[in-house]
Amino acid sequence: NELTFIMIKPDGVQRGLVGDIISRFEKKGFFLKAMKMVQVERSFAEKHYSDLSTKPFFGALVEYIISGPVVAMVWQGKGVVATGRKIIGATNPAQSEPGTIRGDFCIEVSRNVIHGSDAVGSAQKEIALWFPDGIVDWHSSAHPWIYEN
Ligand code: GTP
Ligand code: MG
Repeated sequence: NELTFIMIKPDGVQRGLVGDIISRFEKKGFFLKAMKMVQVERSFAEKHYSDLSTKPFFGALVEYIISGPVVAMVWQGKGVVATGRKIIGATNPAQSEPGTIRGDFCIEVSRNVIHGSDAVGSAQKEIALWFPDGIVDWHSSAHPWIYEN
């Protein structure tokens, strides 16, 4: 029942990568539990990345996140937080392996296409921030084809 928060950043939306990114999570066997496209305000972006507020790149990061609409999602599955981060790849695309989203689609750390929660606790906080009205309660009929139990 683990959940993670995934956000396709403005560059991923502008470059038409939404479908491919969703497809990777879907094909893996994770279930999409919430999704919306939003243009967030500065104060909201600052809240989302509040842990990084002392970093020298914080201002540039916030400008980047508010530079266009983003696609916010909640994905569910066993180990989805850690596996989601593996699917996304290393923060700096220079270190992201080919086959990962960042490894395949981008070059610069400041244009790295996608966000994924870094721990179960931060996923819970981010899901509450982005989806305050809750997520969709549905059960995939593919479940027994993906999970033994
Ligand atoms: P997120 O999934 O977006 O949280 O990335 P991450 O967990 O892999 O990395 P981290 O939380 O440390 O940094 C958040 C985001 O800040 C990164 O994804 C980058 O978009 C941006 N960022 C990180 N380091 C730099 C940097 O040195 N310069 C700039 N401009 N942006 C950076
Ligand atoms: Mg992070």
